[in-house]
Amino acid sequence: MKLRINGKNYDINEDKDTPLLWVLRENLGLRGTKFGCGIGVCGACSVVVNDQVVRSCITPIGQVEGKSVLTIECIDKNHPVKKSVDDGTSSAVRLLPTRSDCCSL
Ligand code: FES
Repeated sequence: MKLRINGKNYDINEDKDTPLLWVLRENLGLRGTKFGCGIGVCGACSVVVNDQVVRSCITPIGQVEGKSVLTIECIDKNHPVKKSVDDGTSSAVRLLPTRSDCCSL
């Protein structure tokens, strides 16, 4: 299955029902997207798919094939949101990148 994550194309050999969160973290090593409740409530796993916020813990990768997925890793390291996530001073894991944050995509 071909996925486009943060502007890069990946060929993922997983079942289409595998949660996107698992693929991001375990297959691709993108650990900025967090596991919280695992049932689509807390928002810790939120990512942007084609400009829509989705909970990656309850989104199977089959639903995002051919779409653009953006994670916290696509934000520049000096962006205030990225800094607050990295240093743990904010609950900014719920703030998500916009397309303008990821202008290189
Ligand atoms: S981990 Fe809580 S909504 Fe996904």
